[in-house]
Amino acid sequence: MNLFSEIQRLKKERNAVILAHNYQIPEIQEVADYVGDSLGLSIQAAQTEAEVIAFCGVHFMGETAKIINPTKKVVLPDLNAGCSLSDSCPAPALEKFLKEHADKNYYVVSYINCSAGVKALSDVICTSGNAVKIVSHVPKDRNILFAPDQNLGAWVIEQTGRPMELWKGNCYVHVEFTRDSINRARKEHPDAKVVAHPECPHAVRLLADEVCSTEKMVTYCKNSPAKAFVIVTEEGMLHRLRREIPDKTFLPGPTDHCACAECRYMKMNTMEKLYRCLRDLSPEVVLEEELRARAEKPLRRMLEWS
Ligand code: 13P
Ligand code: SF4
Repeated sequence: MNLFSEIQRLKKERNAVILAHNYQIPEIQEVADYVGDSLGLSIQAAQTEAEVIAFCGVHFMGETAKIINPTKKVVLPDLNAGCSLSDSCPAPALEKFLKEHADKNYYVVSYINCSAGVKALSDVICTSGNAVKIVSHVPKDRNILFAPDQNLGAWVIEQTGRPMELWKGNCYVHVEFTRDSINRARKEHPDAKVVAHPECPHAVRLLADEVCSTEKMVTYCKNSPAKAFVIVTEEGMLHRLRREIPDKTFLPGPTDHCACAECRYMKMNTMEKLYRCLRDLSPEVVLEEELRARAEKPLRRMLEWS
């Protein structure tokens, strides 16, 4: 069976749109209708007229699509594709923290890499692509709690000068990059520009020529006069860059143990699983309506402020 053409046939039959994150395997990126970062994917999910959204990413991304466009059927190739960052901030722990610090009256800005339960406790959501803009919109008289990524939060503080309380979560993939591993890459490729994701630790961000979301990496590399780039994020990004900018060289950012970094959750999606989820319209993302409606408010606010 030719999975590529079968997926395309089923997509038409089901009136489905395939949305894929930049970290998906090359085959999925090729068959998708849209490939992008969390911000672009949320906008696509909100605007689609298809009846079914087949979301090739991780669970919180499928959940976000359902929150923003509840009349659509949202299916995922693998319902177990989670996220270490989202897991680092369980909703009951955030709720407890907010109760214990009620005197601070926190304005909660949550990175989109979180559960529906955490979104429902938040005032506004952000992505790595709009975090600086979103935080700049928060009323100046409010104390901000930024959850769950402490590295992205610290980078936003550096960019905006706005103090924030940071939840101590991180992405297990991006914290694998170190000062030593990136210094090594710099020595091996002295002419290459180093482009890092803001989920990377401070020491790595300091070594980068540019720090930005995955989508902005495409724009930066297109516009830069440089011919080679070390890409310090999940290795799926390299396919997107090589496809769109074929005349330049893209090298994976190394970690201390590996030549590149892979997200085991993003890599749980396969062409076989995508085919089966379109065929069976399952597994599906289902959310209790009261929770969904509460999670929608901060997400809508993000789209308004973006
Ligand atoms: P962006 O693609 O929005 O930059 O997010 C990166 C990421 O880690 C998603 O899980
Ligand atoms: Fe989560 Fe990190 Fe994987 Fe993105 S790369 S899904 S933040 S674990």
